[in-house]
Amino acid sequence: MRVLGVETSCDDTSVALYDSEGGVAENLVSSQVELHDVFGGVVPELASRAHLVNLLPLVDALLKRQELELTDLDGVAVTRGPGLIGALLVGLSTAKAVAMAADLPLVGVHHLEGHILANALTADMELPALVLVVSGGHTELIHMPEIGRYERLGGTLDDAAGEAFDKTAKLLSLPYPGGPHIDRLAVDGDPGRYDFPRPLIHDPRLVFSFSGLKTAVRLAIQDLPRPLVDRDVADVCRGVQDAIVDVLCRRLFRAAGDRGVRAVYLAGGVAANSALRTRVSTDAQRRGLHCVLPERVFCTDNAAMIACAGFHHLSHGRRDGLDLDSFARSPLTSWR
Ligand SMILES: Nc1ncnc2c1ncn2[C@@H]1O[C@H](COP(=O)(O)OP(=O)(O)OP(=O)(O)O)[C@@H](O)[C@H]1O
Ligand SMILES: [Mg+2]
Repeated sequence: MRVLGVETSCDDTSVALYDSEGGVAENLVSSQVELHDVFGGVVPELASRAHLVNLLPLVDALLKRQELELTDLDGVAVTRGPGLIGALLVGLSTAKAVAMAADLPLVGVHHLEGHILANALTADMELPALVLVVSGGHTELIHMPEIGRYERLGGTLDDAAGEAFDKTAKLLSLPYPGGPHIDRLAVDGDPGRYDFPRPLIHDPRLVFSFSGLKTAVRLAIQDLPRPLVDRDVADVCRGVQDAIVDVLCRRLFRAAGDRGVRAVYLAGGVAANSALRTRVSTDAQRRGLHCVLPERVFCTDNAAMIACAGFHHLSHGRRDGLDLDSFARSPLTSWR
């Protein structure tokens, strides 16, 4: 089965072709990073307009590269939400038009399920598993007994992990999005210089909080001499990254232990973080848990993960009509 995936929930326009025989055949992403960089974050209206300009040419490019016609496809999967409503609507309208024009089945996908199933692009997932979803808008611990069944065990009470990275980067005048820059700069940072707080680390609940960390980081940066020098920037990056990775990992493995699962997975943009990947792999190995990480390119927003999730739904006979709508927010556990 060949499924066309369409993803426009935020600032990446992406289309992909997932083939149930051979996996991801194509994954094209048109990034809007430069467009939004000057504003220090995503401007929703600009994102919608850029999707409108970029999406159809991307679909055409995909078909051309694969030497396919629309009628060679077997289905269309599109992100319904959560995300920016205007941005989502561009993807949804385009996916509906393609489905109608070529008489293909259409299915809507929850963006977080897409992030989780990015793991299935690497290898069959070992289930039941505990999944840590860490992205620009979410930090959630999900118990996953099987594909399509998700139980939320806990999550952040305030900022998402990606936001904590991005807001720190902004305070350090690094480009948007800041996560990859902090990842890179932290390598040269002194791990002993800053001991930033690990919020709620002793809380018995499976919760996260990053707003206090953000304040601690802001105060530390305020105390630094101006202009900022590379050494200080690297040390702050290292301190923040160590704090975030530490709380994420401790909660993930506690949740895995509570549930008695034998496999753990990472999902979402922050899953591309080198320190998080190393720590989760090492800790999983030490505990004898199965852990295969998603490829970095499939951690941040991409349509391959949406096409893969769409394949799963379509192969189980699920179809959506042309009245399919988008949503800005909706928990993964109750959306269908
Ligand atoms: N190497 C990295 N280290 C840390 N953070 C990273 C890295 N790469 C990307 N990120 C962060 O990942 C986030 C983007 O992830 P993603 O694309 O999944 O978020 P989103 O789609 O905006 O949010 P959501 O998926 O919750 O709707 C940004 O906050 C970015 O800084
Ligand atoms: Mg995302």
